[in-house]
Amino acid sequence: MSEKSILDYETVELDDNDNSVVIIDQTKLPGKTELIKLHTAQEIWDAIYLLKVRGAPAIGVAAAFGIYVLAKEIAGEIGGDGRFDRFYEEFHEQKDYLNSARPTAVNLSWALNRMEQVCLRVGKETSSIPAVLNALHDEAVEMKEEDIRVCRSIGEYGLSLLKPGDGILTHCNAGQLATCKYGTATAPIYLGHEKGYGFHVFADETRPLLQGARLTAYELQSAGIDVTLICDNMSAMVMKNGWVNAVFVGCDRVASNGDAANKIGTSVVATVAKHYGIPFYVCAPTSTIDLHTPTGREINIEQRPAEEVTQMWYKERMAPEGVKVFNPAFDVTDHDLITAIITEHGIARAPYKKSLADLCQKKWN
Ligand code: MRU
Repeated sequence: MSEKSILDYETVELDDNDNSVVIIDQTKLPGKTELIKLHTAQEIWDAIYLLKVRGAPAIGVAAAFGIYVLAKEIAGEIGGDGRFDRFYEEFHEQKDYLNSARPTAVNLSWALNRMEQVCLRVGKETSSIPAVLNALHDEAVEMKEEDIRVCRSIGEYGLSLLKPGDGILTHCNAGQLATCKYGTATAPIYLGHEKGYGFHVFADETRPLLQGARLTAYELQSAGIDVTLICDNMSAMVMKNGWVNAVFVGCDRVASNGDAANKIGTSVVATVAKHYGIPFYVCAPTSTIDLHTPTGREINIEQRPAEEVTQMWYKERMAPEGVKVFNPAFDVTDHDLITAIITEHGIARAPYKKSLADLCQKKWN
């Protein structure tokens, strides 16, 4: 029997019998594939904050399953025939807590708000806590299935922009490990691979947490895709050498003017790609488009602990004690550096204010 590949595992799963969210602990990859079960609000919050589960869409689905698990706990404490307003008060508190785990990826609040709306609608209609729990279960399961359909569709649109033999550069991990299947930036790569396109992929290692080295290189290699790992400061060289035909990245929040927040270093790649005339594509489920945020300036950028830069991956500390460290987790790529934004409903091009609003409208119709 062939060995199980990392792509055979579910990034996020619900164990309804055990009332837990099951995730791959991504901080242990690629060395060890360890599944962990999250039962409590603290465990779910920590898993998101510590990037055990990460990537905007996967965070959203983990939070949806998480709030369902917590809703069942609340129902257990107050009794299935308890009052809905008391149930909702605690539900809302837990929702706010999970929402505070990471600020930049809009998918976290998007998923939790969607769950809250279901809770309120069914609670008001029925006043029945069991009915609310059923509806929350179905909504969370649907969000996971939807994520798979969305990523596949992004893959199909993305593939239409590529040709066999292309060189593709990607930053961070917007792969299957960041979603429930296919990834966003990697979806065109996986779909092209199925068709024998023979892509050559360059994966930026993506300091400081190395999602490119630990996750992207790992999952693409596991799929049998030709992938070459480079340090973050090598993208200009591979582009100048003519080895890159297109850049595909994911994103954590797209403002209504097309500015896109993604893993720190993305805007450097976009600037270099523009210099060399290489198309730079941002892959974004419409759940990542935040029409309430006018420009990238209003996006809240997560700041992370200095240890991630100074010592986390080294045998010993690699910076002087007490040195000042700036460690933002994301940066914003200005819309004029982005060739197109690929969504599940089509490809948006400048002017983004109009094209993104039109695509989101398509989703709501
Ligand atoms: O800090 P992370 O690992 O959650 O950052 C992930 C990224 O920046 C991804 O590119 C983004 O979330 C899109 S995932 C499809």
